[in-house]
Amino acid sequence: MSSSASSKGDAGRLQDGIAEFYDQSSGLWEDIWGDHMHHGFYDPASTVSASDHRPAQIRMIDESLRFAGITDDPAKQPKTIVDVGCGIGGSSRYLARKFGAKCQGITLSPVQAERANVLAKDEGLADQASFRVADALKQPFPDGQFDLVWSMESGEHMPEKAKFVNELARVAAPGGTIIIVTWCHRDLGPSEESLQPWEKKLLNRICDAYYLPEWCSTSDYVKLLQSLSLQDVKAADWSEHVAPFWPAVIRSAFTWNGFISLLRSGNYACGSTWSILIEDHQRCIDDAIDDPRVPEGCDQVRHHYLPETGVNHNGNRMFQVYSLLMYPI
Ligand SMILES: C[S@@+](CC[C@H](N)C(=O)[O-])C[C@H]1O[C@@H](n2cnc3c(N)ncnc32)[C@H](O)[C@@H]1O
Repeated sequence: MSSSASSKGDAGRLQDGIAEFYDQSSGLWEDIWGDHMHHGFYDPASTVSASDHRPAQIRMIDESLRFAGITDDPAKQPKTIVDVGCGIGGSSRYLARKFGAKCQGITLSPVQAERANVLAKDEGLADQASFRVADALKQPFPDGQFDLVWSMESGEHMPEKAKFVNELARVAAPGGTIIIVTWCHRDLGPSEESLQPWEKKLLNRICDAYYLPEWCSTSDYVKLLQSLSLQDVKAADWSEHVAPFWPAVIRSAFTWNGFISLLRSGNYACGSTWSILIEDHQRCIDDAIDDPRVPEGCDQVRHHYLPETGVNHNGNRMFQVYSLLMYPI
């Protein structure tokens, strides 16, 4: 560990890890999956082909907007948007185009910010979408600036959820809307003080692979948002809608394009990131299956779901990792 890393403490090390993870893996991801780094949204009963991933990722954005009541009515459309944890700016460009809005994105990864700006320029959106490196917990924006505060699958990286939602609320304009789409663990039962040890073990594997701090539940988020006196807080569990996504990701890793991308990257770290994406999911589920406390029949999970959904073939929820929250203020 470098002396600068050791003087930074846990939060600093986590941020460095996140930045490095996305610096190294974003090009590979883009080659295979395009410019959105989030789950697709599916009809739970659907059979998914890997080629459906992009429409499914766009569906995720549109379903999130619909959930938040942002419709095609021009009077209700946002004109200023912040994309918190913007990746290479896929959401920003889509939203900027859809609403004719101005969008500013922030990410911890310099490689992502640079690539996002290049893509905005290439797509003729340089005047509408811009990106920079900044911390979501200390955003470089004045209070009350954005009609829409958008956080698509970045909240799970945030070590201090209270600070995170405070910042989202701070930069939102009066009457604006905040949308958080993120991974959450299941809500605890009334007599539970924490998740079961085997659930924690499983989540820790995912945390190690993706630079994630400790998880919280959807109801933890709702409590935080309500404590800020925001109006109309809504939450939904979309685990079933995202369940088909990872099997499609894994299949795509073994396509010719995926293989060529890996070779072209010529970069061990990049290659190993990709194999972590694939292997760790399999290992997580293997661990869960081997654990005697996992409910009977969980071996079927291997065939139907990946660990993110945590649903066994009897339909029992082991843990929930996908949630969406929205509140207009
Ligand atoms: C899974 S990617 C999602 C990217 C994008 N929202 C999308 O849907 O394509 C997570 C993003 O969150 C960003 N991120 C994580 N922690 C952050 C922080 N503290 N401040 C700003 N961005 C952060 C990462 O840099 C990365 O761009």
